Amino acid sequence: MELDIKGKVALVNGAASEKGIGSAIARALAREGVRLVLTDVLQEGVDSLATELGQQGKEALAIGADQTRHDEVRSVVENATDCFGSIDILVNCAALTSNLGSVASMDPERWRRELDVSLTGPYLWSREVIPLMRKKNWGRIVNISSTNAVTGQPGVPGYVAAKGGLNSLTRQVAREQASRGITCNALVLGPIHTGIYDRGVFDEETVQRMMERVPLGRMGTPEEVAQLATFICSPLSGFMTGELITFDGGMTLGR
Ligand SMILES: NC(=O)c1ccc[n+]([C@@H]2O[C@H](COP(=O)([O-])OP(=O)(O)OC[C@H]3O[C@@H](n4cnc5c(N)ncnc54)[C@H](O)[C@@H]3O)[C@@H](O)[C@H]2O)c1
Repeated sequence: MELDIKGKVALVNGAASEKGIGSAIARALAREGVRLVLTDVLQEGVDSLATELGQQGKEALAIGADQTRHDEVRSVVENATDCFGSIDILVNCAALTSNLGSVASMDPERWRRELDVSLTGPYLWSREVIPLMRKKNWGRIVNISSTNAVTGQPGVPGYVAAKGGLNSLTRQVAREQASRGITCNALVLGPIHTGIYDRGVFDEETVQRMMERVPLGRMGTPEEVAQLATFICSPLSGFMTGELITFDGGMTLGR
């Protein structure tokens, strides 16, 4: 299948983690000849991914930024435009997931931080990138969401609320920008085997219970997510917008 995205420019945020979904999407896009702007609050991670891709002859620019800060987001987009001319594809992958208890017990400041990173961040990136896409009457925005937004998940109330907001933001942007050839879709993911499961965000028992709810009996892989994301970033997905695409091994079947 010819994806026809060679030479396009993609900004992928949340791309620092070696075993993360952002870096997998960046690698998959690079294989298709997409030029990349890699960004994350962890500068070192995006630097090393850019070096890896550079060694393979791919074009990748790494810029660190805290996406809760409008000035930093704007500056990344300006640098990217200086370097590559424009941005055609935006993948909003960065998020914060910490175990913070329940709505009744969590600290309001932590709530604000979770919403800031995982919902305001995608809004800020979209705000800065959409005008560039509008100039070309073409663009793809892919928001990385979670089935937790639909089912709820004990321990992560801020994250759940942020992802619910991200689903709504997806539909809003899709509606606002459809007439300009810009599509916006969300990948609503079930458990994907990334570094978060090694960092103790969820304890073993919670992971076990999660797996019991996955009819296909395993976690997804970042590479599987990346294949789907690459298709959505391509012209081939041009008749699809505002979709919340569930990718969860059947976890939410029957809901
Ligand atoms: N792994 C899963 O099971 C799963 C399931 C559903 C959805 N998701 C979503 O997939 C995406 C990637 O998750 P992952 O598992 O690869 O986790 P990850 O923690 O490796 O990736 C998140 C990235 O966001 C970055 N980030 C955090 N705060 C930031 C900030 N203020 N500014 C800029 N970057 C910041 C982190 O540094 C990290 O690199 C997230 O949106 C997550 O919610 C993951």
